[in-house]
Amino acid sequence: MNQKIFIKTFGCQMNEYDSNRIYDTVKKIGYEKTNNHEDANCYLINTCHIRDKAKEKVYHEIGRVKKIFRSKSKPLIIVAGCVAQAEHNEMIKREPYIDLVLGPQAYHKINRTILNHKNKNEKKEETEFDAISKFDYLSNIKNQAKKISSFLTIQEGCDKFCNFCVVPFTRGPEYSRPFNQILDEAKNLIDNGSKEIILLGQNVNAYNFQGLRLSNLILELEKISGLRRIRYTTSHPKDMTNDLIDVYKHSKKLMPLVHLPVQSGSDKVLELMNRKHTIKTYLEIFHKLKKINSKIEFSSDFIIAYPGEKKEDFEDTLSLIDEVKFINSYSFVFSPRPGTVAANLPLIDKKISIERLKIVQQKLFFNQFKINQSLENTTISVLVENRTDDKSKLFGRSEHMTSVLFSGSDDLIGKIVKVKIKRSNQNSLFGEIFKQSNKKVA
Ligand code: SAM
Ligand code: SF4
Ligand code: F3S
Repeated sequence: MNQKIFIKTFGCQMNEYDSNRIYDTVKKIGYEKTNNHEDANCYLINTCHIRDKAKEKVYHEIGRVKKIFRSKSKPLIIVAGCVAQAEHNEMIKREPYIDLVLGPQAYHKINRTILNHKNKNEKKEETEFDAISKFDYLSNIKNQAKKISSFLTIQEGCDKFCNFCVVPFTRGPEYSRPFNQILDEAKNLIDNGSKEIILLGQNVNAYNFQGLRLSNLILELEKISGLRRIRYTTSHPKDMTNDLIDVYKHSKKLMPLVHLPVQSGSDKVLELMNRKHTIKTYLEIFHKLKKINSKIEFSSDFIIAYPGEKKEDFEDTLSLIDEVKFINSYSFVFSPRPGTVAANLPLIDKKISIERLKIVQQKLFFNQFKINQSLENTTISVLVENRTDDKSKLFGRSEHMTSVLFSGSDDLIGKIVKVKIKRSNQNSLFGEIFKQSNKKVA
């Protein structure tokens, strides 16, 4: 009888990609995916360490699992992801209910680790950085994702060491997967029905495999006929090189949305953060891209109330938001992370921090609302992904990644259709089908 594995995923898209690849991998030793956690023989928590009380959240989750399985036999408990990497076997010492701790660069060892545990019942921690072996191993295991829009990790890790960030410690040094390995995985995803590929990396635009850059990869993917849309995330302004900017001149499939985290609108704060870019260089990228295609929009990440942020620095952030008119952004109050340079810096008063976050979010949400409203009574291209949970509407995304809901039949799933927008709110557009733009593509 097959065993069942349930994975609870926290954090970024790279964790989501990893969780799916773990499902693909453990299939080889007889585990099948379950969406019902109560059925699980193996319960894996894929963790994120980026903010707040990440570690405590994991122990809290384990507490919940313990309760669920109080009257049943205990599943195999695996903690994976960035908290696992940061905490190593400290986790097993503190919570003996945990059986295995697996860092993000050790997923190629998961089958062996599970089988060894079953034979010897030993607790184990695998957290060394070994991205080459991981991706070599995974390239021999087919990516089974059958989604219209699929993630594909091309790069992992970070060498930039922003003073606030744990990623260089949890994901290790920058590593770029071999060019052809990525193309093979992309072709496989497209054969499985994907129409959109979202290339992923903690610093995706730092991709460099033997001199081949992200720009080369996009232009190569562009040639695959079944693929309709290409996106990439997350980028660093320092790696937004001219070759990548130029791709926007030639590519028909690269979507006109650039997620380019700026973190702050103040050069002084950027320097305190060790961001390695200025507002001037950020705006140069913005204007170059706008000149190529005025439809290109920007989204960003902001850290509010970073230690040393004065009122005037905060106002610089507000001015930048007014200038760029980000279409969609993430903003959080600075959260001190253990082991980083900024871990012990004096914090800005909590009330002021929350007040600043509120002001920034109001501005960002207002922009988003206005942009969506401006699309009412226009017709836009939408890649149809699936049905809404209640099955009443089709769900798709605009070129700028905004959710679009409208009525239509299932045979539109996987197609790019024209939708006339009738209504909008801050997060979504609501419309009706106008006409199908490309009937040939299945
Ligand atoms: N590599 C990307 C870049 O350079 O912008 C970002 C990747 S990071 C996984 C995602 C986002 O988490 C960052 O852009 C930042 O805004 C946020 N973040 C990271 N550390 C943080 C911290 N200590 N407090 C609050 N937000 C943080
Ligand atoms: Fe973190 Fe991005 Fe800075 Fe790297 S470049 S340390 S991932 S915020
Ligand atoms: Fe979180 Fe690790 Fe991603 S810390 S944001 S899961 S790289």
